[in-house]
Amino acid sequence: MTTRFIRGRLLSFHRAPQTIDDPAAYCYIEDGALLVQEGRIAAIGEAAEITPPLGAEIVDHRPHLILPGLIDAHIHYPQAQVIASYGAQLMDWLNNYTFPEEQKFADPAHAARIAELFLTELLRHGTTTAVVYGPSYKVALDAFFAAANARNMRMLAGKSMMDRNAPPDLCDTAQSSYDDCKALIASWHGVGRAGYVITPRFAITSTAAQLDAAGTLLAEHPDCWAQTHIAENHSEIALTAELFPNAPDYLGVYERHGLLGRRTLLGHCIHLVERERKVMAETGTVAVFCPTSNLFLGSGLFDADGLAAQGVRQGLATDVGGGDSYSMLRTANEAYKIMQLQNQTLNPFDAFYRMTRGNAEILGLEAEIGDLAVGSAADLVVLDSAATPSMALRKETVETLAEELFLLQILGDDRAVAAVYVAGEAAKAA
Ligand code: GUN
Ligand code: ZN
Repeated sequence: MTTRFIRGRLLSFHRAPQTIDDPAAYCYIEDGALLVQEGRIAAIGEAAEITPPLGAEIVDHRPHLILPGLIDAHIHYPQAQVIASYGAQLMDWLNNYTFPEEQKFADPAHAARIAELFLTELLRHGTTTAVVYGPSYKVALDAFFAAANARNMRMLAGKSMMDRNAPPDLCDTAQSSYDDCKALIASWHGVGRAGYVITPRFAITSTAAQLDAAGTLLAEHPDCWAQTHIAENHSEIALTAELFPNAPDYLGVYERHGLLGRRTLLGHCIHLVERERKVMAETGTVAVFCPTSNLFLGSGLFDADGLAAQGVRQGLATDVGGGDSYSMLRTANEAYKIMQLQNQTLNPFDAFYRMTRGNAEILGLEAEIGDLAVGSAADLVVLDSAATPSMALRKETVETLAEELFLLQILGDDRAVAAVYVAGEAAKAA
């Protein structure tokens, strides 16, 4: 592995910024440098104070910003050809577009092709880690993890467990899903940079027996993660209540099967009732905010400030293909607007915290990713805040770091991603 001396304007976070003026929350080095060795950050500081070792490759990204690689806390890899499907809300969108498409992933060649294109697309958008829903076929997860490990990317993923209310070809059973997850965990969890996420799709597509199997898997593998969907759409919530008449509410279904906790990520959390919010806070369960998806599918407005005030931990994610962009910058743009509609705001420091360190913290991975600290993986994104003519024009009037970050948050997308490093190696395709 090449030793690199990477120069630029460095920005990373220690904790969530409380306000737009909270410099203790982050570290910003105007003329900074990172020394990268063996895929990790070996030194960080003022460029003038770090001496590159003999033979180190010197890369100068000035005047661009260098941040930890962006992290997407919820995305569906088999939906790369579902994104931008017209005219439906959640249940019709799943039945008419998503389930038919996911059946194609029984073919390992198709799964391998889409996995490659999906990972390339993530990197093009500056995302170096994602928490990924796979289709229900084990072969498709084997293909995905093999592709991610070949690129040395820190990817967390799992096969969707679904044993009812979906086309028969897409359905597994409680037992087969347990067996497939066991085999995938044995093959991939902790192998290379892969991590396994136990993934019952949502309550509607799992029997109680399958949710039990998922809870058992989590108890047997407490270093894995778990993910599912909740309270995204009113019809979804009504159908869940019909299917689980004895549960106190939607969260109660997952709670009774041992699926809550600090390593559980629940996508959407838009229409939670008071008890659900309270239990999420008490158990440390994470609510994942998916703004482009929530707007695209007409699902509703995530109450970020309300949940935060109650102590609910939060992640930020694209949810492609319900979400309509792979870009975490576009995602932060839509998050800002959803919060504006509720008289809330998402200040640019908080937005960049959420895309980096914040999403690393909800995974318990902040010692490895999401930070520019000595010992962290050298997963990096280089951002150009004058990447397009309109950005360059707006930048002429920018005077502060906060203004520059907000410009990126609102006008940025893949064009603003000047370079990406995965474990210290340049990784963005042209
Ligand atoms: N709920 C269950 N499955 C899905 C999915 O694939 N996307 C979204 N947005 N919600 C879901
Ligand atoms: Zn989703």
